[in-house]
Amino acid sequence: MPVVYLNGRFIPAEDAKVSVLDRGYLFGDGIYEVIPVYRAKAFMLEGHLARLQRSLDAIKLANPLDNVYWARLIADLIEQNGGGDQSVYLQITRGAAAQRDHIFPQAVSPGIFMMSNPLKAVPADWHNQGINCITVDDIRWQRCDIKAIALLANCLMKQQAQEAGAQEALLLRDGQLTEGAASNAYIVINGEIITAPSGPQILSGITRDLVLALADEAGVKIQQRFASVDELRAADEIWISSSTKELVPVTMLDGKPVGKGQPGPLWQDLHQRFQQYKSEV
Ligand code: PDD
Repeated sequence: MPVVYLNGRFIPAEDAKVSVLDRGYLFGDGIYEVIPVYRAKAFMLEGHLARLQRSLDAIKLANPLDNVYWARLIADLIEQNGGGDQSVYLQITRGAAAQRDHIFPQAVSPGIFMMSNPLKAVPADWHNQGINCITVDDIRWQRCDIKAIALLANCLMKQQAQEAGAQEALLLRDGQLTEGAASNAYIVINGEIITAPSGPQILSGITRDLVLALADEAGVKIQQRFASVDELRAADEIWISSSTKELVPVTMLDGKPVGKGQPGPLWQDLHQRFQQYKSEV
């Protein structure tokens, strides 16, 4: 039985209950983080806690805990769930007011919830053969930089990919690539990486920060700008990244092979660098 953290207590998941008046439930009024854990240690924790703070600031919710306390709680949660490789999910909602009202309630405590699940290894064939993606219209709102728990648009787009036999949807807004339904996206043309700039149109990934730092270290040129749909279709390589999937090559897009239809050499290099970095922290 997994142990979860709910509003100050570690308890078995089946005993964790929240109010139907919680604004996370009624309005999707909350934010979250997903933090990968390798060998019982939270990976890139500082980056995740910094983004948590940015999301809280953006929704005008005070951080209920300081970073030292967060780090301690996350370490405890990992230990109580048996260490190893995990994926920590953390969310903060604006809490439960007496009545449903769009306006922020006064003097209501935020709802804090954390759980952790075993981190599923990325299937070997994702690395050997790459994944299949479809393009879809980016139907999300204009603050995709906030890691909001309201993920209906993301769920609809991911489901559309699943029903098309694809592993991820790549999102197009005004003829330009933003990101994946649950990942950041990159294309490679002539040995250069093109990836959408941080800003309101994407969720700037913590994995993306590392991928770009490793690419920079390797001397690879990076263009932080939106790729056009034509560039996307002509790319030599396409990748996606996220905390739970790391860096994954995309070898089929809308039923057509990407480049040579195999994971490309730049992906191979960065994937190796990523694994090396992971093994050293
Ligand atoms: N999602 N963009 C979107 C829309 C995402 O949902 C995610 C990750 C990312 C990648 O961010 P990071 O590298 O920090 O995980 C980009 C998580 C994993 C999720 O919702 O489960």
